[in-house]
Amino acid sequence: MIGIIEPRINEYLSGLIPRRDEVLEEMERDGESRNFPLIGPLCGTFLLQLAIITRAKYIFEMGSGFGYSAIWFARGLPADGKVICTDGDPTNRERALQYFERAGVAEKIEFHVGNAQEIIQQYKGPFDIIFNDIDKQDYYQVIDLAIPRLRRQGVLITDNVLWDGKIVEPPDDIYTEGIQRYNKLIFDNKHFLTTIVPLRDGLAISVKL
Ligand SMILES: C[S@@+](CC[C@H](N)C(=O)[O-])C[C@H]1O[C@@H](n2cnc3c(N)ncnc32)[C@H](O)[C@@H]1O
Repeated sequence: MIGIIEPRINEYLSGLIPRRDEVLEEMERDGESRNFPLIGPLCGTFLLQLAIITRAKYIFEMGSGFGYSAIWFARGLPADGKVICTDGDPTNRERALQYFERAGVAEKIEFHVGNAQEIIQQYKGPFDIIFNDIDKQDYYQVIDLAIPRLRRQGVLITDNVLWDGKIVEPPDDIYTEGIQRYNKLIFDNKHFLTTIVPLRDGLAISVKL
């Protein structure tokens, strides 16, 4: 694996980032101890910035895990803003609700258990941000679901689009293949203007035109 950011640069960036509050740091340790992938503080800060820059009020998360990325988003919303979280695993929801309460964002979050691609179809939007962090082989399905539900100049954010550098190799698993397929489709899609920010594992930022 070739990685994304030169390890010393990564260390440098991580050294610059301020300490998080007790809840986020506990979630980071929780994720690390169970080998549960989280967006982490560098990308978390970027999600918070995007929520602020877009003046987001309404965010849909696909693949919320136990709520770490949702807390970053929620902190960028006004008091009447909402993050709709989704995850296939009910134990993630239970864990997330406790963290939301402690982080003081519970009233800004709804958490639904089930398939995110099905749940989003119950919503019309328009969302300011849709965050895509589901199983990588299914990423391509999110594009057509997002288009009618994002406001103009709303943002589709997709995590892991550089996939530890495997993205430049011939694919030897469905995840790499799925991300390669997604990147090609989203860059070619006339409804979106896309950039990949090579932070952590790569974030695709697609603005709806
Ligand atoms: C990488 S983790 C999410 C991490 C979270 N976004 C964060 O950074 O805090 C991916 C999560 O997506 C969930 N997931 C994967 N495919 C899904 C789908 N199609 N619908 C709902 N949840 C899904 C998994 O259960 C897992 O918890």
